[in-house]
Amino acid sequence: MYTPDYTIKPTPVILGIESSCDETAAAVIRGREFLSSEIISSAAEQSKYGGVVPEIASRAHTQAVDEVVRLALKNAGVKKEQLSAVAVTYGAGLLGALLVGLSYAKGLAYSLNVPLIGVNHIRGHLSASYLTDKNLEPPFITLLASGGHTAILHTQSYSKFKVLASTCDDAAGEAFDKVARVLGLPYPGGVNVEKLALESRNNLNFPSALVKNSAEVRFSYSGLKTYVINYLHTASQRGEEVSPADVAYSFQRSAVDPLVKKTVEFALSLGAKTVTAGGGVTANGYLRQSLLSACNEAGLKCVLPEKKYCTDNAAMIAAEGLIQYNAGNFAELSLNARAQIPL
Ligand code: KG4
Ligand code: ZN
Repeated sequence: MYTPDYTIKPTPVILGIESSCDETAAAVIRGREFLSSEIISSAAEQSKYGGVVPEIASRAHTQAVDEVVRLALKNAGVKKEQLSAVAVTYGAGLLGALLVGLSYAKGLAYSLNVPLIGVNHIRGHLSASYLTDKNLEPPFITLLASGGHTAILHTQSYSKFKVLASTCDDAAGEAFDKVARVLGLPYPGGVNVEKLALESRNNLNFPSALVKNSAEVRFSYSGLKTYVINYLHTASQRGEEVSPADVAYSFQRSAVDPLVKKTVEFALSLGAKTVTAGGGVTANGYLRQSLLSACNEAGLKCVLPEKKYCTDNAAMIAAEGLIQYNAGNFAELSLNARAQIPL
């Protein structure tokens, strides 16, 4: 019988499990105190194919999930019997990949007779900041930029957030990955575009990812990506030499500058005092530096999760698990994986 104790403990020990893409991750927190975070990634194998192959990701998760949980518990100095709850990503992501983590989490929660918590991956990215600043409390504005989402969000309370602006097509991370591919850089693309961009200071003034003449603040990363591809095509047809570093640098500026500018503008107009960030693209050094200085100039506090907690990890899943735990939002064992969850 599965009859977990749903009484809310003041300092619960929560195991987080994440398997939505190519990282199998597990982490343990005690209250807001971070205890461990482990990742086993199939990125090296995926790079042979230039991107994530869902079937390879699922198989890799199956092989890694038990080991990554064992490591997270060991490094946290926690026995599984001491866990208060198991939090797991149930979406959005690759269905087969999600099912591996979710099934494992259900089995573990059932065997320990502890509550299961289903976590929305995107809310996980938002919650990474709670581990970075243990005193962080809503309200705050978040710049969220990952491989699947790009948005500016207003977290009004632990349970409520509002989307202030978002992309109308591709996510920023997708554009980084596609531009990396046309520049002949290996997967994962974003970090390699960043490295190449460090070799240039020559701005080719590509158009901004901010959509012009729109009543709402919207971004278009498909438009920017297409512009870069056309730029490279035209140059090659004309036999003109192009500096890949200039292209990487200019693309990065056009992709990042409007995100930073609009995030700070929203914070100021809404009277928010704090800005946070989350998602793989916010591991980008240029973005981090720009956001920090823009917040500084505007007199805003800026909470940036460490780079390893911006990209996919399970500490953020445990952190969001804690919020759901405190709100008494527990899942049934019938919880299903979801490929998409609207923001
Ligand atoms: O959050 P994340 O790890 O996974 C998703 O939820 O999508 O984000 C992955 C995305 C990829 O598109 C990757 O290229 C991008 O984040 N990314 C970066 C950097 N590191 C990861 N983009 C730009 N600069 C980086 N340093
Ligand atoms: Zn993610």
